[in-house]
Order: sequence, then structure tokens, then C-alpha cells
Amino acid sequence: MTSSNSASTKRRVFSGMQPSGEAHLGNYLGALRRWVDMQDEYDCVWCIVDDHAITGGGDPAELASNVIDLAVSFLAVGLDPERSIIFVQSDVHEHTELAWLFNAVTPVGELERMTQFKDKSQRFESIPAGILNYPILQAADVLLYKADAVPVGEDQRQHLELTREIARKFNAAYGETFPETEAIIEKDVGRIMGLDGEAKMSKSLGNTVAILSEPEQVWDRVRTAVTDPQRVRRTDPGRPEVCNVFSLHGFFTDADARADIDAKCRSAEIGCVDCKRILSDNIVTAFEPFRERAAHFRANPAAVRRILDDGAEKARSIAKTTMAEVRQKMGMDWRSSID
Ligand code: TYM
Repeated sequence: MTSSNSASTKRRVFSGMQPSGEAHLGNYLGALRRWVDMQDEYDCVWCIVDDHAITGGGDPAELASNVIDLAVSFLAVGLDPERSIIFVQSDVHEHTELAWLFNAVTPVGELERMTQFKDKSQRFESIPAGILNYPILQAADVLLYKADAVPVGEDQRQHLELTREIARKFNAAYGETFPETEAIIEKDVGRIMGLDGEAKMSKSLGNTVAILSEPEQVWDRVRTAVTDPQRVRRTDPGRPEVCNVFSLHGFFTDADARADIDAKCRSAEIGCVDCKRILSDNIVTAFEPFRERAAHFRANPAAVRRILDDGAEKARSIAKTTMAEVRQKMGMDWRSSID
């Protein structure tokens, strides 16, 4: 089923990102880069998911500035309010309302089997229900806009499968309402590993490079990256195929230069510091235009506010239409029974 987006014949895409500060390399390579490219082809809705960010608690003192930082990252990489709806989740209350209604069709067993729930719940002595219910809110985000597709990184695949399941269950219980949204996941990206080389790049693990970092900050981060563990001395030959720094070169360094690094690493002609320096320089060059645009938006907070206010208004108007349909299908429009 394709969504009935009356204003546009384009397929609609929705995606979200948690406001945990500036976007990092994993966010950019796994998601943002693709979102920017989609803007001409699709009817795009991009969301800063602050309701998700508070599911496990969080620091109230940081949330507001994190939302703004992420909005600046969105705009800096080229998300364009003229071609996309860009907004903050909590500005559109229908997200949490629909999530509540989806509680009615979501089996707890499905929530408990989510890998991210299993990982995150280990960090708590007493697990907040928000951590368990997180994917219900994610399903509500997507289905509120009847999105046809959701571009995400590999780590979100399971949540999107549950979104489809929730749509199926809702449709079966209350009649055909939601599309079975397709996940768009770039095959050649997968999970971007963090600088520790052990876990996926993630703000909560402190193993990231923020895309808006100044050149010296990029180097400060990249120089700490773990390389081939067997390459202990500068004179030891390296194994690019097991080295996370070399895999990051795949996104920032052209094929000839990579072949050169590969050969010189194996023969110990260059050391890990040399290899990291090239990577750091190439990241700095690739993100230079983003830093410039970010500076512009940081100097114009009123413009960022206007963009987010305007985005919320457009999002709300779609969300209200869906909610009227959902309430009616779930028998919650009691007024119609006394008309
Ligand atoms: P979040 O905020 O963790 O990440 C945002 C996007 O970045 C991708 N990503 C990565 N891709 C590759 N390698 C990595 N190391 C990496 N880290 C992050 C994620 O796959 C994601 O696409 N639950 C979601 C946010 C969300 C959402 C939604 C997404 C809420 N509602 C509705 C899609 C649709 C999350 O925590 O993403």
C-alpha cells in the first residue's frame, strides 16, 4: 500500500535522530548523507526525536541545547527546509498519542526481544518502561505520516520490522489504515564502528567524531583510534583488512590513495599515525562546507527557531489527519454517536 499523500505524488520518507549533541560520523554515513540526497526524489519528513531521548532519563540541562545542536547539524549537512519538513518530535503531540494507542496492538514479547532493549536495559538497575516501549514510539513516528520508506542505519533494522508488525496488527484489528513501511538501509555502510574499534559508533559510548568538529578536534579524536591490535611497533607490518581506521578511509579517501596506504601499511613503510593523519585531513576537508554552514546557523538562532516552528506546523497538519482517522477507527469519536 502506498501512502495517500494528497499534496504530492512522491513517495514519503520519514526518519528521526536522537538529540544527543552534534551528529557524528556514524549518523552521517549511516543516515544523514542519504537523507540529503533523497530530498529531490521524495516527500521528506526529518525529525529530532527528543521524546525518544528521554526514555531512559537524561539530563534536562542538556536537552534543549542538544536539540539546537542537532538542528544545526541537519541544516549544515544540507537538509533543506524548502524541500523537507524538519521539526522536533515533542512539538507534535500526536506522536506520543499514537504511541499510546499502539500499546493496544503491540505484544510485550516483541518489545523484550529487541536487541537495543536488551543492550540498553543492562545499564539500569530498575529498567524504565520507556526503554521497553521505545520502538512503539518509533512506529508511531513513522506511521503518523504513513511513510512509505524509512532511511536508517543497519542498527535500526529490527525496530523497523516491528513498525511493520504494528501496522499489520493495527490494520487487522481496526481496518486497513497504515502502509507496511519499507526500511532503506545502505548495504555498503553497515554499522560504522567507533574509534575504539569494538562497538558501533555511538555518542553514549564516547567513541565518536562529531561531523562539525574543528580540524584540531577531529585530529584529537582520530589519533586515539584503535588500529590493528597486532601492529605494536612502528616497524611491524599492518593488516588493513582488520583495521577500523582503514575501513573509515573507505568513505573519505579515494581508491588510488587507499591502495597506496594499503601497500605501505603492509610493508610498514608508513605507521598508524601517518595513516590516521591522512584520514583526519580527509575528514576535515570533506566536512569543511558543513562547518561553514553551521557557523552561519549558530549565528542565527532565530532562523533555526523559525525553521523548526514552521516544520512542526506542517508536520502537525499531517499528523492531525492521521489521528482523526485512527480515533474514528478505534471507536474514540464518541461525539459522532450523538449527532
Ligand atoms: P539514532 O539517533 O541512534 O541514529 C540516527 C541515525 O543514524 C544511524 N546511525 C548509524 N549508522 C551506522 N553506524 C552507526 N554507528 C550509527 N549510529 C547511528 C541510525 O541507524 C539512524 O538511522 N531510534 C532511532 C531514532 C528514531 C527513528 C524514528 C528512526 C526515532 N524514531 C523513526 C527512524 C524512524 C535512533 O535512536 O537513531
